[in-house]
Amino acid sequence: MDITKRLLELDPTLSRHNEGYWSEPFNERRQGYSSFNDAGIEIETGEFLYAITRLLKPNRVLETGTHWGIGAAYMGMALKDNGVGTMTTVEFLPEIHQVACKRMQSLGLGGTGSADEIVYCKFGDVKDLIPESNYQLILLDTEPQTRFAEFLKFWDYLDEGGYIFIHDLHRHMHQIPNEEHGFAWPYGKLPKEMIKLVKDGKARPFHFPTPRGLTGFYKVAQGDYVW
Ligand SMILES: C[S@@+](CC[C@H](N)C(=O)[O-])C[C@H]1O[C@@H](n2cnc3c(N)ncnc32)[C@H](O)[C@@H]1O
Repeated sequence: MDITKRLLELDPTLSRHNEGYWSEPFNERRQGYSSFNDAGIEIETGEFLYAITRLLKPNRVLETGTHWGIGAAYMGMALKDNGVGTMTTVEFLPEIHQVACKRMQSLGLGGTGSADEIVYCKFGDVKDLIPESNYQLILLDTEPQTRFAEFLKFWDYLDEGGYIFIHDLHRHMHQIPNEEHGFAWPYGKLPKEMIKLVKDGKARPFHFPTPRGLTGFYKVAQGDYVW
């Protein structure tokens, strides 16, 4: 059974909406996409993260910005199906954190606050998170204005051959003018350290044309073919 159907069966509080309805006015381009709520990742993005988690078989996954646990549900289910690996997801708003904990419990993924569960819902600010070990897969999904800083904070904790994804980030990297808010809103200018990682060939960016945007970075590994 496909992963979204499994989630819908395990958690009756989830319901699928056409992504087009989240934008005003109704946006034709978004019709082909769907989501469970207007803050969580799109269902198609969740299915992609489920698949890449199945493919990579990571030992450690990190998500910044749990919200109601949509990303955590998809990646957590993949870890459960893999039979190996754990995930930490971080949220700093108590009511929201509680909703995610409950969802992880309904899905049999953890959510009771113990760090050795498949999904450890960590309550706190991402700024205070000190990783205890490296990750192989990271999803950055807090507020746009903090995600480049998070990229730099966690880059050194990503294993070679691993992937970092930034949600809500389109191929222009938001390095474009915005009439109301000025240049590069809401992300801010790309930090020079991030630009250097890409220019030095250490990080390879790639983009997906989803409604809210998804940009990934592959961390080049020793042994990769040198073109
Ligand atoms: C876009 S939502 C995350 C959606 C989630 N990844 C999902 O797929 O369901 C962003 C969440 O990040 C949380 N957040 C924002 N800044 C944070 C920070 N510095 N530390 C922890 N959580 C943060 C917000 O409270 C919000 O719930």
